Amino acid sequence: MYTEKYLIKKAAPLSGTVEISGSKNAALPVLAASLLCSGKITVLNVPKLSDVDVMLDLLAYFGADVKRSADTVTVDCGSVQNRTPEYETAKKIRASFLLAGALLGRFGSCSMPMPGGCGIGLRPVDLHLKGFSAMGADITLEHGLVHISAPRLHGVSIYLDFPSVGATENIMLAAVYAKGDTCICNCATEPEIVDLAAFINKMGGKIEGAGTDSITVHGVGSLSGCSYGILPDRIEAGTYMLMAAAVSGSDLCIKNVVPQHLAPVIHKLNETGIKIITGEDLIRVDSCGGIKNTDIKTLPYPGFPTDMQAQFMALMTTGKGSGIVRETVFENRFMYVSELNRMGADIKIDGRSAVVNGVSHLSGTAVKATDLRAGAALVTAALMAEGTTEIGEIHHIDRGYENLEEKLRGIGVDICRIREEQ
Ligand code: UD1
Repeated sequence: MYTEKYLIKKAAPLSGTVEISGSKNAALPVLAASLLCSGKITVLNVPKLSDVDVMLDLLAYFGADVKRSADTVTVDCGSVQNRTPEYETAKKIRASFLLAGALLGRFGSCSMPMPGGCGIGLRPVDLHLKGFSAMGADITLEHGLVHISAPRLHGVSIYLDFPSVGATENIMLAAVYAKGDTCICNCATEPEIVDLAAFINKMGGKIEGAGTDSITVHGVGSLSGCSYGILPDRIEAGTYMLMAAAVSGSDLCIKNVVPQHLAPVIHKLNETGIKIITGEDLIRVDSCGGIKNTDIKTLPYPGFPTDMQAQFMALMTTGKGSGIVRETVFENRFMYVSELNRMGADIKIDGRSAVVNGVSHLSGTAVKATDLRAGAALVTAALMAEGTTEIGEIHHIDRGYENLEEKLRGIGVDICRIREEQ
């Protein structure tokens, strides 16, 4: 057994170019959706991340033939079987629950471990189940397993009380082979939903309205194999934007992005005084002076992403004045704040809001990542902090940032990964 940590020194201005990988949150549902098809699927631009490895292991557990070469993954689900994954494996990634919709669509039933809460909130799946039930499924919960059964799902109109990303995706997956049309009202509009719909349509599905708040899935009889490229990771791109903004004097070019997907982050950085230039697939961040703090409120897309909240808080720790961060998507997403305060930040939490009072400087010390984006926030803070920062529990960061050390070294950061035997 071993643990790994990062040692990061205060950074000189970041410069050069960083290439963004494929989106984790698009790759996971696309790979889950491959279970719907018995033909061969080739997925391009798949990021090398531990969360993706877990999804590939789960597909292999069902009997899929899975191969990876660089960023290309091939999945052949020709002879998969309807099995129940172990809770210990499924609980590693929340997105494992998306396999419920895919198995239900393909086999008419499934038994999945009921996901528990996690480091950022309770994260129930009631909206996913409400959708399956409205489509005619019987649902029971026994000994921690959700049994869902519907020999033939039927199309129906489903209203989501909250535009949940996962529920929208799961219902889309289940509806692909349903009889008739399924309408998902007040659904999520995230770019990852659009990517999933485009992938399913490329296999021969008929989904309309992805990217709007109402999606219609017209049931089809079969799907066939295809090749599909995953969209760039907007959260990874946004994280590098905030890192460049945090280190005064940086001039960083972020390539392989869709600037439109980062509109709220760009607006908020503009409010702080950071200059952003966008091109067709690139964003340049020019942070000539310090930043002026502002307020942010997380919201479903196209609002400010909850997955960028922690990194933005880190940026504001040394900004001028105060800023309020309101988290409206998850109920427990400020776990990392005490770690930033140990580095000298002045952040006070009041319920689902945090008040950040800018301080003159942070100083490096030993801190721990409490979840994926919290880890990214600590890396952002470490770039600004005097001396060296030691970040523990970096397996959280490995879930969502491909080649973080290599990419950061490429833009001038002094970072190393230390392995310690336990
Ligand atoms: C996805 C993303 C995650 C991101 C989140 C919000 C993936 C793999 N993960 O997570 O990175 O932070 O969207 O943008 O794509 N909720 C319910 N009942 C449900 C489902 C959700 O109450 O049945 C609540 C959740 O507890 C949470 C909120 O809705 O408070 C948003 O959750 P949701 O949009 O479903 O997020 P995920 O799909 O889990």
